[in-house]
Amino acid sequence: MIVLGIETSCDETAAAIVTAKGEVLSNVVLSQIESHKPYGGIVPEVAARAHMETTDAIVARAMSDAGLGFDQIDAVAATGGPGLIGGVIVGVMTAKAIAFGQNIPFIAVNHLEGHALTARLTNKGHGDGLDFPYLLLLVSGGHCQLLVVKGVGDYERLGTTIDDALGEAFDKSAKAMGLDYPGGPAIEKLAKNGDATRFSLPRPLKGRPGCDFSFSGLKAAVKRSIDALPPGPLKEKDIADMAASFQAAASECINDRTKNAIALFRERYPTGSHMVVAGGVAANKALRDGLEQLCAKNQITLIAPPPALCTDNAAMIAWAGVEKIKNGDTSGLDFAPRPRWPLDPNAPRAVGAGVKA
Ligand code: KG4
Ligand code: ZN
Repeated sequence: MIVLGIETSCDETAAAIVTAKGEVLSNVVLSQIESHKPYGGIVPEVAARAHMETTDAIVARAMSDAGLGFDQIDAVAATGGPGLIGGVIVGVMTAKAIAFGQNIPFIAVNHLEGHALTARLTNKGHGDGLDFPYLLLLVSGGHCQLLVVKGVGDYERLGTTIDDALGEAFDKSAKAMGLDYPGGPAIEKLAKNGDATRFSLPRPLKGRPGCDFSFSGLKAAVKRSIDALPPGPLKEKDIADMAASFQAAASECINDRTKNAIALFRERYPTGSHMVVAGGVAANKALRDGLEQLCAKNQITLIAPPPALCTDNAAMIAWAGVEKIKNGDTSGLDFAPRPRWPLDPNAPRAVGAGVKA
C-alpha cells in the first residue's frame, strides 16, 4: 500500500509518499519562513495564499521524487486540522480532488496524531518497533501536552499548557531578544555559547503536583530581564546568556512535569515502557539531552524521531494515513476541516487554562 500525505496546517507546504511498511519514498517540505519573517510571526492570510500557490507543485515534486504516477497511489491523506484554517482547506481540497479523480480513499489526519505516531514510523526496523501504549510529550509551536498514546485515535491527555505552548515561548522570547522567527533554532544555536546561570528566570509550576505546563511567566521574565539591562542595543553576550538561561529554565520545567507524567503512566499502564518526544521543539538537542537523563533515571526508554521528522512534514501525515487505513478508518469527501481538533476530547479542562488548552 502506498499513501500520499499532504501537510498545510501551518507555515510549511509539504507532501510525502510512504508505504505501509514504513518506507519513505519521498518527503518534500517547502518552508514559508521568508514570507513571514518581516512580520515576526506567522500571518494566517499570507500562509493560506502561499499554500494555495505552491501545494500542487509540491505534490507533483513528491510524486516525481518517488517516481510514481497518481494511478500507483492507493490512498491520499491530508491534515484535516487543527491549524490555520485557510491552509488546512487548501490541503484537504487538494487531497479530496486527487482521491475523487483516482477513486481512492481520502483520510483526514489530525496533525497532532501525525506527530504522535511518527515514532512508530522512525522506530521501524529497530527491534520490534514501538508498541502501544507509550507516553508522549508533544511540544510544538501550538501545543504542549503530555499524553498516553493507547492506540490509533485513542489518547489520554495527562497534562497541557494553561497558557503558551513551549514553541510559542521560544518564539516570543527570541523576539524579545531581537532574534528572527522561528526563535527555537536561533535560541538553541546561541545558547551553546551562553551562561545559563547569568539570568535568574522562573520555573513555572515546578514542584507542583500534576502534569500541566505554564510558560507565559517565563516569557514575561525574559522580557523584564532584557528591559532591565543598560539602554542601547543588546550585546552578543547578553543574547547568548539569555538564550542559555531561557533554554535551561524551559528544559527544567519540561523535566519536572514529565517526571510526574512518567509516574502516572507507570501507575495506569504498567505494561508501557517507552516515552516519545515529538513536535517541532523536540528538535532541540538540549531539551532531548535533559529528557534522556530523566528517562534513564526513571528506567523508561526515550524515543526521539530525527529532527527533520519532528518539525512539520508530510511523511508523518502519510504514515498516520497508513495507520488509520489499517484500522479501517477513512474519511468521506464531505469531511469539514477542523480549526480545533483535540486528541483526547474527554480530557478535563486544565485548572487555570486559557482558551488554547
Ligand atoms: O511542530 P512544528 O514544526 O509546528 C507546529 O505544529 O507548531 O513546531 C514549530 C515550533 C516553533 O515554535 C519553533 O520555534 C520550534 O518548533 N522549534 C524549536 C526548534 N526547532 C523548531 N524550538 C526549540 N529548538 C529547536 N531546535
Ligand atoms: Zn506540528
